[in-house]
Amino acid sequence: MAWIPIHDQPYDPVPYRPARVTAEESLRAAADLRARMDERRTVRAFSAEPVPEQAVIDAIAVAATAPSGAHQQPWTFVLVTDPEVRAKIREAAEREEQISYAGRLGEEWLSALRPLGTDQNKPHLTDAPYLIVVFEQRYYLDEESDEQHKHYYVDESVGIAVGMLITALHLAGLAALTHTPSPMKFLSEVLNRPRNEKAFAVIPVGYPADDATVPKLIRKDLEQVLVRF
Ligand SMILES: Cc1cc2nc3c(=O)[nH]c(=O)nc-3n(C[C@H](O)[C@H](O)[C@H](O)COP(=O)(O)O)c2cc1C
Repeated sequence: MAWIPIHDQPYDPVPYRPARVTAEESLRAAADLRARMDERRTVRAFSAEPVPEQAVIDAIAVAATAPSGAHQQPWTFVLVTDPEVRAKIREAAEREEQISYAGRLGEEWLSALRPLGTDQNKPHLTDAPYLIVVFEQRYYLDEESDEQHKHYYVDESVGIAVGMLITALHLAGLAALTHTPSPMKFLSEVLNRPRNEKAFAVIPVGYPADDATVPKLIRKDLEQVLVRF
């Protein structure tokens, strides 16, 4: 069925009867997923080795199933493979990051980043075979008629979709980086996005470089993040 904007859709309930799984199956699935997701790491050094494009497309399709405020699905995923466009993005991102790392971020932010070992150089933007640039649609815009409608909970919705995207990529055996060069306005210009869209994150996707390393980070224990009443 073709999509129509939510503000033009009626309320139309349909039965929902997903297959029930046994408690044992639930426990096994949850434990398996927990172990697999515990292995996920943000990768910053990518191999240029090609990855199967359909796996990346499927991951974007998974992200697009995310829940969203009023089901407005306020996201656009721009898949960039063109080396010239990736080079432009890298050049513009490194220009901004140069200023950020030279002091714009401030000492508190820079000290928070120190354990990650990041700097103004962003080779992943040209090394990774794919960049997924995620845009949030601040409001609905029909470019032809200029009709506009407010979108609700945009950041929350797009954040959930990106979480699902990263999960899907990891489960497909691919590495990703959530990169948020700041400010990100140059992405709208390079990728020619309409005025209702604002860049949310750049996600390079590929296989890790053979000599890739990741910072030794410690995740909080479950007891620190789980509160029961
Ligand atoms: C919203 C958000 C923004 C991030 N921005 C950057 C970034 O600009 N550059 C970068 O190298 N990593 C970035 N990261 C990655 C985090 O540094 C990384 O997730 C964190 O250090 C934990 O490491 P892990 O993902 O390997 O568990 C970002 C992550 C999130 C969720």
